[in-house]
Amino acid sequence: MADIAALQQDALQQINNAADLRQLDDVRVHWLGKKGQLTEQLKSLGSASIEEKKTLGKALNELKVMLAEQIEARKAELNRAEINARLDAERVDVTLPVYDKPAGRIHPITQVMEEMTAIFADFGFSVAEGPEIESDWYNFTALNIPESHPARQMHDTFYLNATDDKGDPLVLRTHTSPVQIRTMLEQKPPIRIIAPGATYRCDSDMTHTPMFHQVEGLVIDKRIHFGHLKGLVQDFLKAFFNLPDVPMRFRPSFFPFTEPSAEVDIACRKQKDQLIIGQGDDWLEVLGCGMVHPNVLRNCNLNPEEWQGFAFGFGVERLAMLKYNIPDLRTFFESDSRWLQHYGFDALNQPNLAGGV
Ligand code: DAH
Repeated sequence: MADIAALQQDALQQINNAADLRQLDDVRVHWLGKKGQLTEQLKSLGSASIEEKKTLGKALNELKVMLAEQIEARKAELNRAEINARLDAERVDVTLPVYDKPAGRIHPITQVMEEMTAIFADFGFSVAEGPEIESDWYNFTALNIPESHPARQMHDTFYLNATDDKGDPLVLRTHTSPVQIRTMLEQKPPIRIIAPGATYRCDSDMTHTPMFHQVEGLVIDKRIHFGHLKGLVQDFLKAFFNLPDVPMRFRPSFFPFTEPSAEVDIACRKQKDQLIIGQGDDWLEVLGCGMVHPNVLRNCNLNPEEWQGFAFGFGVERLAMLKYNIPDLRTFFESDSRWLQHYGFDALNQPNLAGGV
C-alpha cells in the first residue's frame, strides 16, 4: 500500500516548485483531480482490509485536505507575486520632470480666476457656483432691484424667450451676484464664499464684450463690519499684484444690494505703454462692494438684526489686463491662437500661494 510520507513529500515539493498559476493547477489535477494520484489511492482502498481501510483511509483523507490547503496557500502567494511584478513593471515616477511641454495654453481669464481662487482659499473662502441662465428673481428682485428700477436698464439684460417653472422670466445673468442669493438660501451662516464665473450684457464696444467674467464674494457672520471688508480687499490686492503695498481708495457709490456701497480704486501711473500698479497719482477702479442690504438678507430668510456681512464683485478681465499688461479687452475672445501663445499660461504651472500667483 501507499507510503503516505513519500506521497506527501512528493506532492508538497511539486506544489512549492510550481512557478505560476498554470503549473500549480497542473499539480492540483495530478494529485487531486478525478484521475489524480490521491484519488486513485483512495479508490484502491476498496480491496484493502478493514483495518487498513480505517487507518490508511483516514491518513489519505487528511493528506487530501492538507494538499488542498497547501495549494490554496501557494495560489495566494503566486497571485501576490504576480501583482507585485505588475506593479514593478508599470511603476511611474511622478516626481520626474515633464520634458514635453503641452502645446495648449491656459487662457488669462482662467489663470486669473485660478489665482483669485487660490488667494481667497487661503483666506478661508470656498467656491460657490450658480447657473448662467438665471431667473429674473435671483438676478434682480432678490437683490433688492425691483421691477421698474433703473438698475435693470443699466444692466442691458439678455432676456430669454422662456420662463422658469414658476413663470419667472429667464435671463442670462448680468452679474455673479445672484450666487449670493443661492448661497444664502442653501447654506446656514457663517458664510464665506467667492463665485467666479461668466456674465452677460447686451453691450459691445472697445471696453465692453457681451460676455465677461466676475468674481463675486460674500461674507455673512455676526458683527461683520466695513473694516473687515477693507482689510480683506487690501490683503487680496497685495497678494494678487504681488506688491508690498497697493494704495487704494474707497469711493462712495450705489448698488441696490449693498448699503453703504463703494467702488475701490487702486493707485497707478502710465509709463510709456506700460501701466505701473501700486504707485502714481492715477486711480483705476477694480471692484464694487458694500455691506449687504438688510432687504437682501430678509429675502434670504436671514434676520438683519442677527446677521450682517459684506459683498464684493471684481471684473476678471480688468484685473487680467492690469496684471498682465493686456491692452485690448476684445482680444480676450477672438480665439487667436497666436494671442494665446503669447498671453496664455503653462498648463502644468498651477497657481498657488506657495509658488506665487
Ligand atoms: N454686481 C455688481 C455689478 O455687476 C458688482 C458688485 C457691486 C457686486 C457691489 C457686489 C457688490 O457684490 O457688493 O456691477
